[in-house]
Amino acid sequence: MMPPDWRPPTLTTERLVLRPFEEADAPALFPLAANPRVTRFTLWEHHRTLDDTLVFVRDYAQSRYMEGTPEPYAITLKDDPAGLPVGAVGCFWASRPNAAMELGYWLAEPYWGRGLTAEACRAVVAEAFATCHPERVQARVIAGNGPSRRVLDKLGFRYEGALRSALFRRGRYEDVLYYSILRPEWPM
Ligand SMILES: CC(C)(COP(=O)(O)OP(=O)(O)OC[C@H]1O[C@@H](n2cnc3c(N)ncnc32)[C@H](O)[C@@H]1OP(=O)(O)O)[C@@H](O)C(=O)NCCC(=O)NCCS
Repeated sequence: MMPPDWRPPTLTTERLVLRPFEEADAPALFPLAANPRVTRFTLWEHHRTLDDTLVFVRDYAQSRYMEGTPEPYAITLKDDPAGLPVGAVGCFWASRPNAAMELGYWLAEPYWGRGLTAEACRAVVAEAFATCHPERVQARVIAGNGPSRRVLDKLGFRYEGALRSALFRRGRYEDVLYYSILRPEWPM
């Protein structure tokens, strides 16, 4: 357990500042997380009330920070002086005894197609390898999410295969595609 006020360190990339979430982020994040096109292939449902967003930025974030994991990070743009969140990215433990972490990410729709998610993920996976020492970082993609597969390709993750009809979501069974990168394969 980490001290209750522990926060993951802020990370800076060419175009982004990745920083821990704060309760005050909820009003800016809510309309972005309320977009059903963002959650078309996610395990979480689009936010319906500001309270859904508050639970994420305050309660969920706090519980992960207490584990000392770099998850969730607010994705903010360097050229926004207000530093408002435009998405979330992070690495959390999938299985601590097996030293396996999982990468997750989403970006608000107006920012898609600029390579920002890969840029954010590169920094967060590097931070996870450096500070949490996983042997494996995996990512799970619901079949049909081509843009997410592209992000993982760009990061050098390897496609491992599909668990067929492994997820019952929104009234139907979905194939779940597994990707991973192992510690010796990470370029840093
Ligand atoms: C998946 C997602 C994170 C990709 O982020 P991104 O920053 O747009 O990623 P990139 O800019 O690197 O683009 C990746 C691919 O998306 C596709 N893409 C590009 N512009 C797009 C647009 N305007 N709309 C939809 N897809 C687009 C392209 O196939 C692109 O590949 P390319 O760079 O080889 O052309 C983003 O679309 C998203 O947040 N989606 C909703 C949440 C989600 O599905 N998260 C992942 C769950 S596993």
